[in-house]
Formats: sequence, C-alpha cells, structure tokens
Amino acid sequence: MTQAEIATPHVVQLDPDHPGFRDPAYRARRDTIARIALQHRFGDPIPDAPYTPGEQEVWRAVWEELGPKHTVFAATPVLDILDRFPLDRTTIPQLSEVNARLQDATGFSMEPVAGLIDARDFLAALGRGFFCSTQYIRHASVPLYTPEPDIVHELVGHAALLSDPVLAGLQRLMGEQVAGASPTEVQRLIRVYWYTIEFGVLWEDGVVKAYGAGLLSSFGELDQIRNGPDLRAWNLHEMAQVPYDPTQYQGTLWVAPSWERLQTDLQAWYADGGWRDRHYTNPSAEA
Ligand SMILES: [Fe+2]
Repeated sequence: MTQAEIATPHVVQLDPDHPGFRDPAYRARRDTIARIALQHRFGDPIPDAPYTPGEQEVWRAVWEELGPKHTVFAATPVLDILDRFPLDRTTIPQLSEVNARLQDATGFSMEPVAGLIDARDFLAALGRGFFCSTQYIRHASVPLYTPEPDIVHELVGHAALLSDPVLAGLQRLMGEQVAGASPTEVQRLIRVYWYTIEFGVLWEDGVVKAYGAGLLSSFGELDQIRNGPDLRAWNLHEMAQVPYDPTQYQGTLWVAPSWERLQTDLQAWYADGGWRDRHYTNPSAEA
C-alpha cells in the first residue's frame, strides 16, 4: 500500500490482484459511485453514476462480443425478452432510466448497493420488488473480465430478466420466502437462485442454452456451457444442497428440461416449501 492510500482510506476495498488496484482514477470513481449507494434509500431517486468516456468504451466493447454470443448461446425466450427490453449499446444506461421502464413492465426497481450484500438481505429486498444492483463498471484494461459483479452484469444479465412478468414474479416469490427462514433454509434459497436466475441453463431442441444472468453477461463463461461444467439432470432438491464459488467459473449446472418446466417446477417447489428443513434429512449438517 502506498502512503497516499494509507492517508486516504478507500470506501471500496480492492484485492491487490484486482485490475484497478493500482489505478488511482478508477479507485476514486469506485469510491464516488459507492458513496451514491451508501447515501441512497431504496425507492428514492437514484443519482446518475459518473461514467467516463473510457468506461463507455468498455460498455461498447462488451456488447460487441456479447451480442453475437447471445444469438448462439442464449435461450430463445431470453432473446425475445432482450428484444422487448432493449438496452442502449453505446451509452451505459443509468439505473434511473432502466427503472422507469422496469416499473412499467413489472414494478421492479434496481437499487444501488456498494458491493455484495448478505444473502438474506438480498433476498428480502427481492421479495419487496427491489433488486440490489452495483453501479460501477469493470476496469478498462480487461473489458471482457470482472472479478466481481458490475453494471454490465446487472444490466445485461438481470435487468432483462426483471422485465419479464413471469421471471420477475418468480424472483419476487424467491425473495418472499426468506422471512423467518432458518440459516440452512436461506442457504438453500440462495443456491436455487444462484443455479437458476444467475447460472441457469435449459434444453432447447437438444442443445444447452443459457438463461441465467451470470452467463448472459459473461463473455468467457457463456461459450463454455456445453463443454466446461458438469451438466446435471434438473433437480431443485439437489441443487439446494450444493455450495457455489462466485469467484470461479461454475463447475456444475442443472439443465432445466424446458422454459415452461423451469417456471412450473420453481413455482411448485416454493408452493411446497421445498427449501424447508423438514424436506432434508440432516439440516444441521448443512449449515
Ligand atoms: Fe447477479
């Protein structure tokens, strides 16, 4: 750490191997954008994030790569959703702009947070129609990679899924379950969210396609879904028990039989309290 960094503590802590760790201008913007989140109350007007021309260039570079990959790897219903909820591919949309459209579509709003938050808090907000979103963008030196969720992930991945009434309803349902859930139940809820909304894949005409936000926004991970991970038969009870590592490409994915089964099975699982301890033989061993 340099003397300047000791003298001026950062709001946002970055690991020494983060691409922006030694870029004072990037770190200053990360701190500025984090302060927006720290001063924000859910539901209040969201101040615009001060993106630089270089960051706008990152956004355009990401879309140039991701757009063509979506046509190959994204599930058809997701492509339809992306068509109905297009994002400006030349200028980073501000959360306030996206929210105006989301409000009309599903009532959801994306609310800025400074970084990753606790699973119970994230799900509880989801249940109230608030999606906790980062607002900063990845470092310009590696436009196709980010070690943490950024505005590319939130908008390219999550905004579209939140604009669809059925998927938005499912996500609200996922969040509503967390009230009164035990720690192991919260783990199961966030894992099913992770392996579906974040890293979900499904069968489409005998081919594995992506619908999860983490895949739709990841240039590197998207084109490996058919030959990288262990592709398992669709099983919500099983995925609810398998821990995940957000810092690595996902080693295991559960393939939904279809877009329709994805929705009906999730709704049935929640209606039945499928995440409840009573459905598991030794809940205390999972914690
Ligand atoms: Fe995400």
